[in-house]
Amino acid sequence: MLRSDRLPQLLLLLYAPLCHLGEASGPPYPPGTCPQCPYFLPTPLNASTSVGAAVNLTCGIRHLGDSKVSWIRRDDLHVLTTELMTYTSDKRFRAAHVRGSPFWTLEVNNPLVNDSGVYECQVSSQNKIYRRITLNVTVPVSHILGSHEVYLKAGSDMNITCVLEGHKRPTHVTWYHVGNGSDEVREVNAGGRGGIQVVTDRRTGTSWVTVAQTTYRDAGNYTCAPEFSTPSHVQVHVLHDEETAAMQPHLQGTNSSGAVQSSAAAPGAFRKTSALIISLSLSEIINCLW
Ligand SMILES: *[C@@H]1O[C@H](CO)[C@@H](O)[C@H](O)[C@H]1NC(C)=O
Ligand SMILES: *[C@@H]1O[C@H](CO)[C@@H](O)[C@H](O)[C@H]1NC(C)=O
Ligand SMILES: *[C@@H]1O[C@H](CO)[C@@H](O)[C@H](O)[C@H]1NC(C)=O
Ligand SMILES: *[C@@H]1O[C@H](CO)[C@@H](O)[C@H](O)[C@H]1NC(C)=O
Ligand SMILES: *[C@@H]1O[C@H](CO)[C@@H](O)[C@H](O)[C@H]1NC(C)=O
Ligand SMILES: *[C@@H]1O[C@H](CO)[C@@H](O)[C@H](O)[C@H]1NC(C)=O
Ligand SMILES: *[C@@H]1O[C@H](CO)[C@@H](O)[C@H](O)[C@H]1NC(C)=O
Ligand SMILES: *[C@@H]1O[C@H](CO)[C@@H](O)[C@H](O)[C@H]1NC(C)=O
Repeated sequence: MLRSDRLPQLLLLLYAPLCHLGEASGPPYPPGTCPQCPYFLPTPLNASTSVGAAVNLTCGIRHLGDSKVSWIRRDDLHVLTTELMTYTSDKRFRAAHVRGSPFWTLEVNNPLVNDSGVYECQVSSQNKIYRRITLNVTVPVSHILGSHEVYLKAGSDMNITCVLEGHKRPTHVTWYHVGNGSDEVREVNAGGRGGIQVVTDRRTGTSWVTVAQTTYRDAGNYTCAPEFSTPSHVQVHVLHDEETAAMQPHLQGTNSSGAVQSSAAAPGAFRKTSALIISLSLSEIINCLW
């Protein structure tokens, strides 16, 4: 099929590791025994997402013929979809397929942690074949940068940074404040006394609360509460002049380096995606015989 002498070697070299991905499908046909039987393309066997961030599980099938594709949840052997029909009352699951494409997708919208598990793409050919994909739905974790005890001199400005790790969708962040000696939980927003500001970069999941010219009323417990995530807390002390001298090193102890790392995580995910696309187009060039 390929005319150049060197190209096949190069492609096989690139392709060889991907062939192993096929090992999760079964039963395998001995090489060359069934050239027209359906077989799976080497799509990823693992998918991960965070709570609430839609995810697609995809399998690709060549020589499908008249056979039908079903998605089955291995936990309870529930048949979720067959072709484009949905057999679960759970509206979060939906099958998607573009006519003529080898790819069959199970869309999982608003995933929950307990959607984690193994899903099977099953082809109802004479020799039933399947490919199992493990879905991992995680809960993002929030962190407040710097110390969890912040000491401020009365009249100075406060700037607390909260970063979210492991989120796969733009995220809304709410801040709460419980004043020193108070039980009342108040949402922190710009509508308070003035000089208070909450800024959130929803994409990177980084949020700042800034308070200008702090007074003792600004002391207390601040909670960073991103949606679909674990909250984090910081205790703020506002000190009068005579108390500050000893505490000087702690002042404004936040550090933005974590925010940079957090935003750098996204491009890596995109690189992975493009590697997958390349591997899929390679698979269209060569049939992998396993
Ligand atoms: C998929 O995840 C499982 C369990 O988390 C792990 O054992 C396996 O190595 C992963 N496979 C790939 C191809 O990443
Ligand atoms: C899932 O696939 C559908 C098409 O079937 C697409 O519209 C959607 O953007 C995909 N979602 C994700 C999270 O990739
Ligand atoms: C998963 O969790 C949700 C709420 O957290 C619950 O309503 C649902 O029944 C659970 N599903 C299963 C299969 O346990
Ligand atoms: C799911 O992903 C998280 C974060 O990447 C990882 O720590 C955890 O081990 C994974 N769980 C499984 C079952 O693979
Ligand atoms: C701050 O408030 C949260 C929630 O009310 C609580 O869990 C946490 O222990 C508090 N932190 C401190 C340092 O008091
Ligand atoms: C709360 O206020 C009291 C008296 O004003 C002070 O002694 C104490 O250090 C304050 N605590 C915090 C956590 O700021
Ligand atoms: C911020 O973090 C960097 C690297 O972790 C460190 O070198 C630097 O001293 C920190 N700055 C402050 C103000 O803590
Ligand atoms: C708060 O700190 C962040 C990062 O350290 C910075 O980007 C932001 O401009 C600061 N906000 C204010 C109002 O000083």
